[in-house]
Amino acid sequence: MASSPSYLIHTFGCQMNAHDSDRMEEVLRANGWSQATSGEEADLIVLNTCSVREKAEQKLRSEVGKLAPLKAKNPGLVLAVAGCVAQQEGEKLLSRVSHLDLVIGPDNIVELPALALEQMAGAPPRTRTVFDLDAPRFLAAAPREGEAPVSAYVTTMKGCDERCSFCIVPYTRGPERYRPSDEIIAEIGRWVSAGTREITLLGQTVDSFRDPALPPPASDDPDESQFPMLLRRIASEVPGLLRLRYTSPHPRHATVALARAHAEVEILAHHVHLPVQSGSDRILKRMIRRYNRAEYTERARRLLAAQPDMTMSTDIIVGFPGETDADFEATLELVRDVGFTGAFAFKYSQRPFTPALKLPDDVAESLKSERLARLFEVVEGQTREHLAKLVGTTQRVLVEGTSKAGAKEGRAFVEGRTVRNEIVHIEQPEGRVAVGEMVEVEITRAYKHSLFGGVTASALEALPRPNERRVAPDKRRHKLPLLGTA
Ligand code: SAH
Ligand code: F3S
Repeated sequence: MASSPSYLIHTFGCQMNAHDSDRMEEVLRANGWSQATSGEEADLIVLNTCSVREKAEQKLRSEVGKLAPLKAKNPGLVLAVAGCVAQQEGEKLLSRVSHLDLVIGPDNIVELPALALEQMAGAPPRTRTVFDLDAPRFLAAAPREGEAPVSAYVTTMKGCDERCSFCIVPYTRGPERYRPSDEIIAEIGRWVSAGTREITLLGQTVDSFRDPALPPPASDDPDESQFPMLLRRIASEVPGLLRLRYTSPHPRHATVALARAHAEVEILAHHVHLPVQSGSDRILKRMIRRYNRAEYTERARRLLAAQPDMTMSTDIIVGFPGETDADFEATLELVRDVGFTGAFAFKYSQRPFTPALKLPDDVAESLKSERLARLFEVVEGQTREHLAKLVGTTQRVLVEGTSKAGAKEGRAFVEGRTVRNEIVHIEQPEGRVAVGEMVEVEITRAYKHSLFGGVTASALEALPRPNERRVAPDKRRHKLPLLGTA
């Protein structure tokens, strides 16, 4: 063993998992661990897993399998499975995978260093998957100056009370627990002091937020969630923050007050990712989404009306049990009607412990694939049309890092995002655009999923001369793509 023990973390799945992996790294580092340079060298390997769809879960199984030879060669290595598969399977995983040492749930991250040391000292394999229901813990991020990414995630709540019939998340992440606003604001302040310019608030139903430090809202309150209030507090109490996003809201809490916040809070993105899942009322009911198509459309339109250039993306499941051609056509119609400029779309997959297990998974795999392809075609068409309309406009772009585009021709590019969410590649004028800078860019070209442009003459005038500043290193960790795949 090296002088300080070393770890490797492999992350699968959603932004919540990427966020959890960051917190694992922080607790390990705070306890004297350092990152290993290879699997051969590591004392601890953590697979932070996802189980939201069957495909993701299969991936975990194959990754664990791949680590068996390494464990055979180095029996001292501690092999841990964390995240949703760990929470879902618990003890069963240990008996099924003989070379596994630790199974650790999302609420037990803080115990990881101690549990790993216990294993290194020869303890029998162990499972820790206990929800922190009575005293919910939100591990505070510890951003380091000069190492903070331009855009960072901050958790505001965990768990989910919705129980959509297809979804395993309420089972793997437990009931909703909220983080006090003061804590959220303090963490955002730390990120911004370390150099971060954009924050995305993270939660399973991020807009159901209630401040645990405040009395619950009155039942006649037109806005039963305190989320818009949180957005306003962040904007006024963290002055250095340039942009604020959140993901993912549930349409049930997309209230009038939320739309008003989008109209009034200047740093709020002009984009909302509002998962709809289906455009058919019959299917929405079977999914237990607790809204119908008309209600969703009304809420989506209200948000879209908050800013003249507001855009919306969504999540859709195709092939849910009982989905007919007519149901699917209703989904396509809704996609056109709302005009989504991006979508994550998935084929329905049966998940353990979910209410939809009672319904037969009766849409043939080939039909699911066909519907998914048709859906992507419609969304991609809308994305292209939307991007094409932006050619010739001037956009404020928050520069996130260097771009690979242009490398072949030996040209230097940076890339960033608009106030909505489009990726823009920008020709780097003599190294003058720094990462973290907000620059005005004239859009000259539209690609399939991104834009290209140059810094406007007046914006260039205001930038430092070459050699007056070094371009900051690229510290991006995570991305929010415009389009997702199944
Ligand atoms: N509210 C959460 C949703 C987590 S799951 C959030 O957005 O943060 C992310 C998406 O996966 C869901 O919106 C849904 O579209 C998809 N999904 C969940 N369970 C699924 C299943 N059993 N089969 C296919 N897709 C599923
Ligand atoms: Fe899953 Fe529905 Fe919650 S999709 S995370 S149960 S809002």
